[in-house]
Amino acid sequence: MGGSLTERVEISRPALVHNIREFRRRIGPRKKFLAVVKANAYGHGLLEVARLAVGAGVDWFGVNSVDEGVGLRRAGIGVPVLVLGYTPLGALEEAVDADLRLTVYNRETVARLAGLAGRMGKTVRVHVKLETGTWRQGVAPRDLAAFVRDIRRRPGLVVEGLSSHFANIEDTTKHDYPRRQLETYRTACRALEAGGPRVPLKHMSCTASTILFPEPGFNLARVGIGLYGLWPSKETYLSCLLDRKDPLSLKPVLAWKARIAQVKKVPAGAVIGYGGTDRTTRPTVLAVVPVGYFDGYDRGLSNAAHVLVKGRRAPVRGRVAMDFFMADVTDVPGAKLEDDVTLLGADGRERITAEDLASIAGTISYEILARINPLVPRVVV
Ligand SMILES: Cc1ncc(COP(=O)(O)O)c(C=O)c1O
Repeated sequence: MGGSLTERVEISRPALVHNIREFRRRIGPRKKFLAVVKANAYGHGLLEVARLAVGAGVDWFGVNSVDEGVGLRRAGIGVPVLVLGYTPLGALEEAVDADLRLTVYNRETVARLAGLAGRMGKTVRVHVKLETGTWRQGVAPRDLAAFVRDIRRRPGLVVEGLSSHFANIEDTTKHDYPRRQLETYRTACRALEAGGPRVPLKHMSCTASTILFPEPGFNLARVGIGLYGLWPSKETYLSCLLDRKDPLSLKPVLAWKARIAQVKKVPAGAVIGYGGTDRTTRPTVLAVVPVGYFDGYDRGLSNAAHVLVKGRRAPVRGRVAMDFFMADVTDVPGAKLEDDVTLLGADGRERITAEDLASIAGTISYEILARINPLVPRVVV
C-alpha cells in the first residue's frame, strides 16, 4: 500500500466507467441517466465518484441532502443535481442558491420556495414525489392534481419532474407489487397530464427496475448500487435470468485496505480481544488490523468474517473493537508488519465481497458500503 495511511478505500476508475457504460446501454441514448451518489456515493467518495461519472456520460446526480448537493457545486460540478431526501425549510435558500432541484411533497415547502424564488429572482425546478405504495415520501394520487396546480400558479416555480419509488422490487422474484406501483404512477400521471401541461421528466427507477422493467414512458433513470458494481440482490439477478433478460456485467468498484499494525505469536488457549469470545486451539500468529467499527467495519463481523493477506483468507478472531480487530495469519507464511490487509475486494484469486460481509453482519451490501467512515481516504486507482 505504501505511504503514511493506515487504511484506505480504493476506487477503480475502469470498473466505474465500465458499469456506467453497461447502464447507458440498458437505458438507451435518449433517457437521462441520474447517478445516485447519496451516502457519500454509497461509501465510495462523493466527489471522487462524481468527477469520474461526469466524464463517463452521466447526466444528473441524485443526492440525499442539500449539503451533498452544495459539495458537488463547490467542486465545480455543474450538471443538474436532484435532492432526493427531505430538505428542511431552513435549508431551502441554500438549495435554491446552488440551483439544486428539490423533491417536494409538502405544501409548506412549496410556499417557502415560492417566496425564495421571488426574493432571489430565481427559477426553482421541483420534482413532485408521488406516493405509490412505499409509504415513505410522497403526495397521495388523489391530491396530486391540486398539489401540482398550487405549484404552477406560483411564479418562479416549475414542475420539472414527477417521481416515485419502488418498495418491494429487490427482495423478491414476484413483481406484482411493483407492477401495481407502476400502474398507480401511470394512472396518476395520465390524469395529471389530461388536465394540464406535460411533466418533462418522469422517473421511478432504481437499479433493479432499470434492469427488470425498462418501461417506456419514463425518461430519467435513477441508478445507485449497480453503478458501484453490485446487483441489488440475488433475487434481482435471478429475476433477470428468469425473465430471459441479458444480465449486465457489473464490476465492483471499491476495495477497502489496511495494513498490519503488529504481528504476534499467541499460545494455544489464549482468549482474544474484548470479552474473550475466541480461544486459540493451537499456537497462533495474529495480525493486528488497525480498523474497527468506527471505520465502519461492523461488530457483527467479529469471529466470522475473513480478510485477505498475501492472497490468502485469514479469519477474524475475537470481537471487532472501535479501532482494531485481529486476524489469524497462522496459515499465511511470511505475513509481516505493514503488509496489506484487504477487508473488501480482491487479492490474487481471492475476493471478499460486500455481499459476503453483509450476509455475516445480517444486513445488505448497501449498508456495508455506505457505512465505511467518510474519514477513510478514498483513492482513485
Ligand atoms: C429515491 C431513490 N431513488 C433511487 C435509488 C437508487 O436505488 P438503487 O441503489 O437500488 O439503484 C434510491 C436508493 O435508495 C433512492 O432512495
